[in-house]
Amino acid sequence: MIKDKVFKAVIPAAGLGTRFLPVTKASPKEMLPLVDKPLIQYVVEEAVASGIKEVIIVTGRGKRAIEDHFDISFELEENLRENGKKSILKEIRKISMLADFCYVRQSKAKGLGHAILTAKNLVGDEPFAVLLGDDIVDAEVPALRQMIRIYEKYHAPVLAIARVKKDEVKNYGIIKGEKINSRLFSVEDLVEKPDPDDAPSDLAVIGRYILVPEVFGMLEMVKPGKNGEIQLTDGLRILAKRGPIYGYLVEGKRYDAGDKLGFLKATVEFALKNPDLGREFRSYLGSLVL
Ligand code: UTP
Repeated sequence: MIKDKVFKAVIPAAGLGTRFLPVTKASPKEMLPLVDKPLIQYVVEEAVASGIKEVIIVTGRGKRAIEDHFDISFELEENLRENGKKSILKEIRKISMLADFCYVRQSKAKGLGHAILTAKNLVGDEPFAVLLGDDIVDAEVPALRQMIRIYEKYHAPVLAIARVKKDEVKNYGIIKGEKINSRLFSVEDLVEKPDPDDAPSDLAVIGRYILVPEVFGMLEMVKPGKNGEIQLTDGLRILAKRGPIYGYLVEGKRYDAGDKLGFLKATVEFALKNPDLGREFRSYLGSLVL
């Protein structure tokens, strides 16, 4: 039976963050601050604003800070209370009450597909979302909510996609598909990191997915590829052969925050939009001789 509602989200956060070394040597990439909130908090807030009730975070060694961030911080809260810092106290308390959190550890970074498989028992037999902290989507309607609407209409997996420049296709999973309307595509196949001349389209899969539990069986069938990693793309290719799956061009501005330049762009734009900092930051940027 196809279940309609998507209540669970998996956030894989056990990767090594090699593109961001050395900062990621002992600190999780997901905890990098975008102005004053860690990347993973933006992603959790997007999930919650999209109707997600349970957040399953896949962690690994050196990722303790993520669990602490979404837990209550007794001493800190006491201190803020004693010092009458009510508004920041409220904000800090809100973080631990965003959703029900559970954690599962991926013992070795064996790829995104493997990280998702690690959450199999916690997901159980229902549709679920996957959100990657690398992708921050600034959107009026949260990106995941846009995708859940598509899932509820078609009852099939939905991949968030974005158009990328020809020389960028080599960094992404690229879909081969048929256009259904200006934002929606049916996905026939996917190619992981193609050469620009062999890419079937300029539509790249980005870090938001609505998946169905059948994907676990498919990921179990996938043979480890380069570096012994189990690629999610390989599982999705099997899924696309077995039934319909959709690619959806999400509305909003996406930042590749797992990459240094993408992260800097996001930082500047989020700081400009920040109600407390924006004005002064804009005038500072204007004063720079570039
Ligand atoms: P990435 O490949 O972008 O992340 O995976 P990474 O491996 O941490 O970073 P680079 O590429 O080496 O710089 C996308 C997401 O999947 C998670 C990562 O934490 C990231 O959020 N991931 C990746 C896992 O949880 N486990 C893995 O084995 C691989």
